Amino acid sequence: MTTFKDLAKKRFSLRSFSSEPVDDERLDYILECARIAPSAVNFQPWHFYIARSEEALQKVRQTYPRDWFATAPLVIVGCIRHDQSWHRPTDQKDHGDIDIAIATEHICLAATEQGLGTCWVCNFDARLCHELLQLPESEEAAVLIPLGFPAADAKPRGTTRKAFEEIVTEL
Ligand SMILES: Cc1cc2nc3c(=O)[nH]c(=O)nc-3n(C[C@H](O)[C@H](O)[C@H](O)COP(=O)(O)O)c2cc1C
Repeated sequence: MTTFKDLAKKRFSLRSFSSEPVDDERLDYILECARIAPSAVNFQPWHFYIARSEEALQKVRQTYPRDWFATAPLVIVGCIRHDQSWHRPTDQKDHGDIDIAIATEHICLAATEQGLGTCWVCNFDARLCHELLQLPESEEAAVLIPLGFPAADAKPRGTTRKAFEEIVTEL
């Protein structure tokens, strides 16, 4: 069994996908890993849309027009259901962003474990996405997750991380 650290180190932002389709067995496993993610007050304020038909992909790709993004055979659109998210009573902070982030990272790590690749994409046109996918008013498209097998030439960009001392402070 690999350790959590091994899995976390293996994940990287994949930006070059093979055209091989994602099988239902792997997709179901990955979505199940999102379903069991924790959320504030266990409200689970998320909705995942699967774009894999040409029609659906064509709509999603318009919201993030990048050549590499168009190589993904499937995109998961992670949405926050703002009418179901927890708002902290002391200041009304909406925790939907946090909840969708946890579920999204479950997806990314589960995909890595299954030999697939993903990339978080938030720099897309969320308003256009809402319009093209005809999402309910209460839902916000928060993240696009392209999913697929890595292309033969795919490799990590080799991003660095801040040093421990820079990010951890003992109180
Ligand atoms: C919240 C969030 C939003 C991101 N949005 C984008 C994006 O719009 N486009 C993109 O190419 N990468 C995006 N990324 C990927 C980051 O650039 C990437 O995670 C970071 O550079 C570290 O590289 P690694 O994922 O390969 O470890 C995003 C990552 C996160 C966590």
